[in-house]
Amino acid sequence: MDKISLEEIINRVEDVPSLPMVTSRIMELTEDPDATVTDIEREILKDQGLTSRVLRLANSVYYGFPRRIHTISEATVLLGFKVIKSITLAATVSKVMLRELPGYGLERQGLWTQSQACAMIARNIARELKYKNSDHAYVAGLLHDIGKVILNTYVGEKYQDILALVENKGKSFLEAEREILGFDHGQVGARVAEKWNLPEDLVEAIAYHHDPDKAKVNVFLTDIIHMADAIVMMMGISMGSDGMNYKFSENTLKRLHIEEEQLHRWIAESADMLTDLSGDELLSS
Ligand SMILES: [Fe+2]
Repeated sequence: MDKISLEEIINRVEDVPSLPMVTSRIMELTEDPDATVTDIEREILKDQGLTSRVLRLANSVYYGFPRRIHTISEATVLLGFKVIKSITLAATVSKVMLRELPGYGLERQGLWTQSQACAMIARNIARELKYKNSDHAYVAGLLHDIGKVILNTYVGEKYQDILALVENKGKSFLEAEREILGFDHGQVGARVAEKWNLPEDLVEAIAYHHDPDKAKVNVFLTDIIHMADAIVMMMGISMGSDGMNYKFSENTLKRLHIEEEQLHRWIAESADMLTDLSGDELLSS
C-alpha cells in the first residue's frame, strides 16, 4: 500500500470531528468581554445534549462544589467564563473520545479517561508553575491525543509493522507511526485543532506533545503537556500502545526546573486527584 498523504486523511475520513456551531459560538462568547452570563446560557441551552453534559461536568468531582449546580447560569457564575469554555469543549469532544480505539489498544472510554486525567494534571502543573493560562493547559491536555481518533483505523491496519519497529528497533510508538504511515497522531491532532481554529500555541502543544524540544511558539505549554502526558503514562491510566517506549524529554525537566522530588509529589497529587475520576457521570451518558 502506498503511503497515504496527511491531506488525504484529513479530507477523506468522515470521522474528522468538526466543531458544532454551538460550541464555536460559546467559545467565542467566553472570550468576548461584552458577553453576559445570559448570552452564554442562551447559547448552551440551544443544545439539550450539550446542556446536560456541561452540567454533569460542572458537577463532576474535579470542581468539587459542596452543593449541586442545577442550571447553566449558576454554573457560569460559579465557575467563570474560562472554565465554561473548557467544559463546553470537553463536553463536545467527549462524544468522539469515548469510542473504542483498537488501533491504539484503548478500550471504550480509554482515550477519554486518559485525556481527562492529562487535562487535570496539566492544569495542576500549570497552576503550580504559575503559568498565566492554566485553562489553556487543560484544553491542550484534553485534546493532545485527538489525532488517535482519526489515525486509529490506519494504525490498526499496519499494527504489526508498527509494533515490530517498537519492539525490535526501540522506536517510540509515535516514531513508528511516522515511519510506517508517514505522519504521527500529534501531526494529525494538530490539523484537527487548526480546523477548529484553536490558538497557535494549543495547536503546537498537540503537535509536539511527544517532542517538546521542537516547540517554538510556546515551549512552556508544550512542556506542561509533555510532563502531564508522561505522568499519565507513569501512572498507567488506560495506557494503550502510545505508552510503549515512551520517550520522555529530559530537557522538559530542565526547562521547567523540576527536581525528581517534585515529580514524585506531582504523581502522588495526581493519584489523589484522579481517585474518583472513574466514577465520572459523563462516562455513562
Ligand atoms: Fe500521544
